[in-house]
This record gives sequence, C-alpha cells and structure tokens, in this order.
Amino acid sequence: MTAQLIDGKAVSLQVLDRVAAGVATRRASGARAPALVTVLVGGDPASQVYVRNKRLACERVGITSLPLHFPDTLTQAELLAEIDRLNADEAVDGILVQMPLPAQIDPNAVIERISPTKDVDGFHPYNIGRLACRVPVLRPCTPYGVIELLKSAGETFKRRTAVVVGASNHVGRPMMLELMLAGATATCCHRFTADVAAEVARADIVVIAVGKPGFVKGDWIKAGSTVIDVGINRLADGRLVGDCDFEAAKQRAAFITPVPGGVGPMTVAMLMQNTLDAANARTQ
Ligand code: GUN
Repeated sequence: MTAQLIDGKAVSLQVLDRVAAGVATRRASGARAPALVTVLVGGDPASQVYVRNKRLACERVGITSLPLHFPDTLTQAELLAEIDRLNADEAVDGILVQMPLPAQIDPNAVIERISPTKDVDGFHPYNIGRLACRVPVLRPCTPYGVIELLKSAGETFKRRTAVVVGASNHVGRPMMLELMLAGATATCCHRFTADVAAEVARADIVVIAVGKPGFVKGDWIKAGSTVIDVGINRLADGRLVGDCDFEAAKQRAAFITPVPGGVGPMTVAMLMQNTLDAANARTQ
C-alpha cells in the first residue's frame, strides 16, 4: 500500500477562497476590511519567513496587514505597552505576536495580555478554555487546520482512535481538544509516555508534533491509518523534513501529509479565518 498524499497547499487555497468571499461580503455591507497586526521582535530568519507568509495571505484575501517590527532589545514592559495600545485600537481586529520571543520576554505574559477577542492565534487561556468546554471561538490555528485536513481526507472521527504525539501548549494539547470535539477517542503521548510506539500502532489517526526529525518510525504506523506530520525540521544538508519517517510511513498509511506542503499552509489559512471571524464578532 502507498498512502495518498493530503495536499495542504490545495486545501489551504480552498480555505483562503472561503475567507476572501467572507471579506467581500463584509465589505459589501459597508464594513471596513479586517485588520491584522503582526508583531515581530528581533531578526530570527524563520520567523521573518513565517510573518511574510502571513502578510502575503492577508493580501490574497483582502485583509489589511499592519506589520510591526521591533529590535531584539525590546523589553517585556515595552511589548506589553504596545499590546495595550493595540487592544484599545478600534482599527485592529487581530494581534499576532510571532514566537519565539527573545529570552527577556515571557511568552505567557504576552499571550495573556492580548485581548481574547483579538487573539487570532487562539493561544489565550480564554480561547483554549472555550475549546475545552466545546464552545470554541478563536481556535489555535495549527490544530484547527489539521481538523480541516482530516476532513478533506474523508475522516469521520467518531468511533476512531487518534493519537497525538507531543503535548505542547500550541499544538499537542489543543489538538487533543479538537479531536475530542470532533468525536475521536484521543490519547496524548509525551516525554513520560512508557511506550509511544505501542500507542501509535493502534491509532487510526496519528498527529505528530514533537520537533524531532524521524521521531516516529514507519513500522509504528498502523496499516490504513491517516498520518498528519506537524513537524518541520531543517537538516544539515538543507532539506526540510517532518517528525515522521515519511518514506517508510507512506508504505503503511492510507493518507499522509508531506513536509513541506502539508500542515504549514493550513496554519496560515486558519489565521486568516480567525481574523475574519474576530472582525465580524467585533462589529456585530
Ligand atoms: N511561531 C511558530 N508558529 C507560530 C504560530 O502559529 N503563531 C505564532 N504567533 N508564532 C509562531
């Protein structure tokens, strides 16, 4: 068996078309375009690429992109004051502070300072709590995008076992909440899990987000399962690879995401969806 590839680029373009149509409807009713502020602190090259991709997506769907770039000497107090200003600015619908931040800034303090109504990353404890209580508002973009990818592959979730490998605040934990909301029977593996291979081997759906190339071996994968690889790692030779041994897993899975071109484009597309939703919620 060779798995069918789940084309994240194609699915993300469908989401972006849907958002563009939503923006057009909003504007036709006389409202201004949704506005997203991207905050970049320092010059991390990967972060610069991510922020640029987010700005290009804004242009594509008709969202106003307002980029802010600060030096890596910015203090936490200065960043929090900037967030207070953006929270109070009626012309701003979404605030995205690109992670990671320089060591002098506590990311949790920043996440909790952003108004939950403008938290288009879906990282604020309020938005995580809404998802946990099955009344989601702004949903963490990567897990939200993974659900869209799974639906595109015909996944039905109910009576299906899902295993999430990785328990981060931004991906693994909200991924568990999304999978449970969708009706799957979900298990999370983390650094203290006794036998990750055995957990993965019984999963109909595997979502991997650990940030270690080749962490999940191909022979762990259950035949006919769906594998979603959230990892994106650059090897010494410059190649980008996920967290799963793709070539071996492809021989066993029914559906699998490539890296790059799987989950990555979906994160940006769901950010656009969240920004439109945040704007519409504020003007209703
Ligand atoms: N850094 C890596 N991924 C993300 C993301 O989805 N949002 C933010 N704000 N920073 C990131």
